[in-house]
Amino acid sequence: MTKAYERLQKCYEAFRAKIDFQPKVALVLGSGLGDYADSIAVEAVLDYHEIPGFPVSTVSGHKGRFVFGYVGAVPVVVMQGRVHYYEGYAMEDVVLPARLMKLMGAEILFLTNAAGGVNFDFSAGDFMMITDQIASLVPSPLIGPNEERLGLRFPDMSQIYNRGLCQIIREAAASLEIPLKEGVYIQLSGPNFESASEVRMCRILGGDAVGMSTACEAVAANHMGMKVCGISCISNLACGMTDQPLSHMEVQETADRVAPLFKSLITESIIRMGKED
Ligand code: HPA
Repeated sequence: MTKAYERLQKCYEAFRAKIDFQPKVALVLGSGLGDYADSIAVEAVLDYHEIPGFPVSTVSGHKGRFVFGYVGAVPVVVMQGRVHYYEGYAMEDVVLPARLMKLMGAEILFLTNAAGGVNFDFSAGDFMMITDQIASLVPSPLIGPNEERLGLRFPDMSQIYNRGLCQIIREAAASLEIPLKEGVYIQLSGPNFESASEVRMCRILGGDAVGMSTACEAVAANHMGMKVCGISCISNLACGMTDQPLSHMEVQETADRVAPLFKSLITESIIRMGKED
């Protein structure tokens, strides 16, 4: 057994000792969405501190707990706060929560984030459903000995974002009359925002939105055979696309402003996912 798996198993045992709940959907909340967890029908809460060896975030505005409950009739586990590679954690730590939620029973990983718009057709406040990603500018979370119990050494990545789930999100957005952009998410390490030239690089490489999370989690989840989907809140146009310097405050303010719409899109999408199988 690899060290990573041993650790994961310990986390799972700590969860199992405290919580009796099997989620279908695992939802990761990005900036501005933290209080979504308070709006679900909560059954149980597990603070990250209660799980030995679990990575805990240092970013302000990120809480640190799993919330278990129901969105409509769908059992969900919600991650209120995630850890980022730029905090200094190893990729193995960054993806441990996603792996743990799979062990809890979640079949679907629903990733959300705030991201910079790279595509000139985007505006601050837009939502972009992620259709594919570029993760190759940060280390793969699968580097190191492979744990066969998790997945294959060389896993396929031809459909990282599950097409069926993407279609459900499209239909959910249409039913709520929420405009939905689509595109490729590109993950950079952060924590600094990009230079204007790096943003141009992202565009040339095929990115539509740039951020500091998500893609590595999607790789780890695909490795484990989870179905993955994701939505970015375009909190700002990326560096060089406007005259203004970027700040975390701007990211937070836009994310907070559109959070009510974002939440209704997530709720409608999850309810529809619960009807699939
Ligand atoms: N770049 C990277 N990450 C981000 C941005 C950005 O412009 N906005 C929100 N997260």
